[in-house]
Amino acid sequence: MAKDLDRILNDIPGFLSKREADFLYDVVRKNGGTIVEIGSLYGRSTVVLADALKNSDKKGRVYAIDPQYFDDLALGQLKSNLNKHNVDGFVEVVVATSEEASKNWNKPVDFLWIDGDHTYKMAETDFLLWEPYLREGGIIAYHDATFNYPDVRKVVSRYILRSRKFRNAGFIDNILFATKCRRSSLKDAVESLYTLSLKNMVTSSIYIKPPRFIKELVKPLVRKFSRSNYK
Ligand SMILES: C[S@@+](CC[C@H](N)C(=O)[O-])C[C@H]1O[C@@H](n2cnc3c(N)ncnc32)[C@H](O)[C@@H]1O
Repeated sequence: MAKDLDRILNDIPGFLSKREADFLYDVVRKNGGTIVEIGSLYGRSTVVLADALKNSDKKGRVYAIDPQYFDDLALGQLKSNLNKHNVDGFVEVVVATSEEASKNWNKPVDFLWIDGDHTYKMAETDFLLWEPYLREGGIIAYHDATFNYPDVRKVVSRYILRSRKFRNAGFIDNILFATKCRRSSLKDAVESLYTLSLKNMVTSSIYIKPPRFIKELVKPLVRKFSRSNYK
């Protein structure tokens, strides 16, 4: 079935953009597997992930983790949205914080989508508790990893963009994504550094100008990063 994200995005409130929804959908439709979502609210991203699974030839399940204390009506809305879009069979709704849910977790994760509490402490906690379950080759994605949420940006800079455990980092609107690996190559590390400085350049007043030789080194990669590179 053709992808029809407008149907979902027009129906369920939230801040996920069309390009971001496209990204989530494409990752899940291509890879399937165990998808952990931290922060579901009314289900805008949950339904996108589940709809991709429904239209994928790969098996999988979305675990939608949210304590739902943000809004009394959110849990009912989430369930009704899953039902309305006919994807409830693909989702397990976990009414718990990410910390609580991680205590009972024991399986490898293929896609870790983090859109929960945006404070530094909690964005870091989400990473430290769940990243160990992400398999090599699995994808991590943080929402709001740009200038409007400096704490989330600090966490992704520290644990993903400056880490040799991730490669193929990139941005789609406010999503930062990367692929987990055993140890990234020097080229990957430079690319991540470039991604970091590119996003700082565009979005931050505290942009630190990279040395000239780094600029020269990464110039050929500019074109690559102007396209999405998650496929
Ligand atoms: C930005 S909203 C999620 C938006 C949703 N992904 C969408 O596409 O519309 C953030 C959600 O994170 C949830 N949240 C807050 N703290 C959390 C925690 N410790 N663990 C899991 N979810 C949490 C909130 O209840 C809220 O529903």
